[in-house]
Amino acid sequence: MASLYPSPPLSITANNGASGTSLSFRSFLLKNPKTKASKVAKPNQYYVSRVSCKATKDDNNDTVVEPTNDLGIFDRRDMLIGLGAGLYGTTATLTNESLSLAAPILAPDLSKCHQVDPVKGDPINCCPPFSSKIIDFKFPLNPKVKVRPAAHLVDETYIKNYKEAVRRMKALPADDPRNFTQQANIHCAYCDGAYPQPGSSDADHVVQVHNSWLFFPFHRWYIFFYERILASLIEDLDPNFTIPFWSWDNPKGMTIPSFYTELDSPLYDTLRDPNNQPPKLVNLNLDPEAKTPVDNTITPEEQVLSNLRLMYTQLVSGSKTPSLFFGDPIRAGDKENLQSGGGSVESSPHGPVHVWTGRPRSESSNGEDMGNLYSAGRDPIFYSHHANVDRLWTIWKGLGKNRRDIQDPDWLESEFLFYDEKKNLVRVKVKDSLDTKKLGYVYQDVDIPWLHAKPSPQKSNVPKGSNKKHSHKETKFPLALDSIVSIVVKRPKKSRSKEEKEQEEEVLVIEGIQFEEHFGIKFDVYINDEDVALGGPIKTEFAGTFVHVPHKHKHGKEKKMKTRQKFGITELLEDLGAEDDESVLVTLVPMFKKGRVTIEGIKIVFDK
Ligand code: C2O
Repeated sequence: MASLYPSPPLSITANNGASGTSLSFRSFLLKNPKTKASKVAKPNQYYVSRVSCKATKDDNNDTVVEPTNDLGIFDRRDMLIGLGAGLYGTTATLTNESLSLAAPILAPDLSKCHQVDPVKGDPINCCPPFSSKIIDFKFPLNPKVKVRPAAHLVDETYIKNYKEAVRRMKALPADDPRNFTQQANIHCAYCDGAYPQPGSSDADHVVQVHNSWLFFPFHRWYIFFYERILASLIEDLDPNFTIPFWSWDNPKGMTIPSFYTELDSPLYDTLRDPNNQPPKLVNLNLDPEAKTPVDNTITPEEQVLSNLRLMYTQLVSGSKTPSLFFGDPIRAGDKENLQSGGGSVESSPHGPVHVWTGRPRSESSNGEDMGNLYSAGRDPIFYSHHANVDRLWTIWKGLGKNRRDIQDPDWLESEFLFYDEKKNLVRVKVKDSLDTKKLGYVYQDVDIPWLHAKPSPQKSNVPKGSNKKHSHKETKFPLALDSIVSIVVKRPKKSRSKEEKEQEEEVLVIEGIQFEEHFGIKFDVYINDEDVALGGPIKTEFAGTFVHVPHKHKHGKEKKMKTRQKFGITELLEDLGAEDDESVLVTLVPMFKKGRVTIEGIKIVFDK
């Protein structure tokens, strides 16, 4: 049975010293170069077959890769494919679900930071000021646990202090790492490829904190330091300051909080979509391509319902396991954005809120500020958006026994660097981010109306429990997602017992989703929908959505991204009465121009 996280991982090397497994892999490589006798591996070189990353090619199709550090920096998946071929004579395609040499993504080297290259406009330098002195994060002794308030519930005094804090932050010298622009740049640097992975100089191996399991912890740490800096700047006014969360998941919080929209306020940003100002309600299932003209066909009540149901699908029924919620692993040596995929929440609602808030894309706009990851941090609303995303992490963990933090050491030991309120450069680890109380904050308790917003069957074209066989039309992959397409997907097992379902979640995986990363991309996924599949999250058949917020990028022009998305469907199949069927009909509804996206495959697996 496929498991979506290898557990336990083969070995942990970077922090705990080289372990036996990894050494024996390494010595296997050294002793068994699958190669002609004329080639001798020097210590520190590995022979690898069919390496496709940057390496010196020779005429025998075997390649010597010069590792630049202890772990060897090349795509370990490529290397393992080579190994597989050498060991077993197979050409099995291994992905990051498979064995790999364990290694967390370590803190970047600030001296290696380089500028990033927007698709439209000049290259941008979003590197932080350099410091060679790094201190390791320590939990505050006896932390006072403060409450982050819901943005729609704060009072005038709070708003006044909050504005003053951001005003002071913006007034700091430009080269002060606590300055607002410096804070905004943090997001650009970690999201647009400004940092090579430690030990690598290759443009494909950069630190990327989206589309993988790094998404939640990175953003938690990021806004944690941002908040500490703001708090330190207004200690004289409010010794307990915390940032507000924008509760777009609650009907009372579904507009831009009013204090962000006052002109001449430090909380205002001119680069927002003028069509999406209050009282316009956020659309959590927004199609990035259809931002304008404004869709007036939906009433506010329908918008609220659609948002709540989307929340239900993404957080309750569709993400019952850590892998579904957090996304796929990314480890040292993994190529950025190559087949790791983000979790359900990162895709949506996180993505649509970005795109909805930022300007519409045009000849002169990349969707700034919120609608593009390089500029998102420049809008003060970003930090309230991410406080809500962060809050969902805590809520999700309370929803059931399988909903817990990832236990893979490569996740726990992953690192980032941030400047704190005293301008110290601090190294943090994912494992220290898991408990917000230890970090000194909780979220104000507000209603969570989506917890029970389960879509109820609207109409059923699918005869229930009829063990229906879908007529099969061969689908060829890679498949261009140019129009609505329905694909019959076989299930590994039907008629599972309650226990089996509790132990293993049934997961639909759409693999090899490829597109240029500066585009906004969205497609919705429906199961057993034999209508023209539209209707969005209010339909029972809606299984979830894939959303990509544009990135700008170094070497940005035509950078392809390859990712995947997983959808938990156990509960959905029950609701559709499809548990006894051998296969399901999966319908993909793309919302972008022709020729933008291809997918390499679609399958159903089980996830523990
Ligand atoms: Cu780093 Cu909301 O993105």
